[in-house]
Amino acid sequence: MTSVLDQSFRGWWFPVVRSQEIGLRHIHRSQLLNQELAIWRDDGGQINAWENRCPHRGTRLSIGLNTGAEIKCQYHGWRYASQSGQCTFIPAHPNMEPSPRYCVNTYECIEKYGYVWVRLEKDKDKDEDIESLFVLTEKLSLTTLRSVYTMASTTRIRDWLINNCESQLKVNSPSLDCSLTGIQQHHSFCLEALSINNQTEKSVTMFIYLHPLTDDATVIHPLLNASISPEIRLDELRRYNRLFGTIRDVCETDNV
Ligand code: FES
Repeated sequence: MTSVLDQSFRGWWFPVVRSQEIGLRHIHRSQLLNQELAIWRDDGGQINAWENRCPHRGTRLSIGLNTGAEIKCQYHGWRYASQSGQCTFIPAHPNMEPSPRYCVNTYECIEKYGYVWVRLEKDKDKDEDIESLFVLTEKLSLTTLRSVYTMASTTRIRDWLINNCESQLKVNSPSLDCSLTGIQQHHSFCLEALSINNQTEKSVTMFIYLHPLTDDATVIHPLLNASISPEIRLDELRRYNRLFGTIRDVCETDNV
């Protein structure tokens, strides 16, 4: 199938998962622009974003073992080093030094604003521009909200949020206790909005990052420009879950 995602976006940075979800000895499976990824952290805290494919016979590395310094492939036990992706050990040939050819494809990744960010290709023109792509500064208080997986294209979600969200949520989902207003676009995959608590009428700025998994599937990563006090945290998080769950349902239902 021909991809409709613009390949030039491979040089863009995308948030792919919340940092807190990459726990000790875990391997997280994700996708970005149709590319499957294995994301993991070594015991020194360094994050890795790799092609989810063993160079030996193509087994998914995300079903392998995170030893804290390496990933061990589940099939024949080849091991690959954190950061470089270089094969370090082949059980069937324990005395052989693995060839440099046996190396996992690795991608640049960093942690910022509570997310792991990945780009699939280095884009020389964008190197000085990294900070502006992120929109935010480190000085803000930020809360990463639960990411929402949708079976809808990134274009579909972005266009609906910009053109329909404010009016349709009010009419079709009157029981929601928060809403979005003033939605504006920073770039193709980042929107900014005001989130309104319908009961208290308080508002807070929210950034909405869109993470294209494939042509037809997108993750919405909502980021609140505020910290939430522990006493109301659970209620607040549930409120946002309901809001973005509704947005997902509408975008999937009308996905034409
Ligand atoms: S397929 Fe991974 S070690 Fe053989």
